[in-house]
Amino acid sequence: MPAGHLYVARRLTDTVMAELPALGLDLTVGEVAPPSRERMLADVAGAAAAVVTLTERIDAAFFDAAGPQLRVVANAAVGFDNIDLAEAKRRGVVITNTPGVLDEATADHTFAMLLAITRRVVEADRFARSGEPWIWGPTMLVGLDISAGATLGVIGLGRIGRAVARRAQAFGMRVIASHPRLEVGTRLDGVEIVDQAELLATSDVVTLHVPLRPDTRHLIDADALASMKPGSYLLNAARGGIVDETALIAALRSGHLAGAALDTFEGEPVINPALRELDTVVLQPHIGSAGGTTRDNMCRLAVRNVARVLAGEPAETPVPLP
Ligand code: GLV
Repeated sequence: MPAGHLYVARRLTDTVMAELPALGLDLTVGEVAPPSRERMLADVAGAAAAVVTLTERIDAAFFDAAGPQLRVVANAAVGFDNIDLAEAKRRGVVITNTPGVLDEATADHTFAMLLAITRRVVEADRFARSGEPWIWGPTMLVGLDISAGATLGVIGLGRIGRAVARRAQAFGMRVIASHPRLEVGTRLDGVEIVDQAELLATSDVVTLHVPLRPDTRHLIDADALASMKPGSYLLNAARGGIVDETALIAALRSGHLAGAALDTFEGEPVINPALRELDTVVLQPHIGSAGGTTRDNMCRLAVRNVARVLAGEPAETPVPLP
């Protein structure tokens, strides 16, 4: 007999979809695309567990629609800014995320963005495709030599930040980082811990690896951008809301920043048209963790968390509730 009802808001990877029936639960599974709000609230009714993604807003209305038997919501993402944790706590619902399994894939993609923006790879591709006559030239499409000791500033030296730092060190970059729980002046794995002001003022490339929370919203605002080294670059593979996009566009337009590579956006999935017009940005549709094995591992971890909680065991990767 099925032990309950599992609501899966969006189709997971094929591998993990094939594993779902073994849970022995009644299943309601959405489409590849996110469900409409109405559809989701209707489909989650009566569920004991839900697997959701970062595109679903999990709030009081979601918990109301599900009903009091809901025990666990597993987010198939490491970030959980889409979930009202206080509301989950009030109702005794366990929330889980997917830390650890996507660090390397996300760091790979961040580094791809770093190379793409500093060496103008996407701009050069657009130029090569344009049909404009060209010939090799000493000043054509010149970018930043990252391997000549350029400095990478990592804001947030957690698992993903450290994985990006390792890649940068292998490329010969000097790596500095700021992190609220690490003491300024110390070193961690060859990374010098500095305060954020120093990081912004001295980095050739700044990369963001902090979660989106009230205290990190617009962490990179007009003042922070103004304090960045002239001609430097910004990478954001974390969450769009960490950067004041209007201020970023102004900093790019003025030439104060040489470029930005963004995998996440303030109005996601809408991308500000002003960003699309700039040659000095690389735009990616939030694909940081989009490695095949990584996506299987994220979905599988979410499903494991559901199975454990429904079996009365502690979740493998619970999100601490406030
Ligand atoms: C992706 O952005 C995630 O949070 O896993």
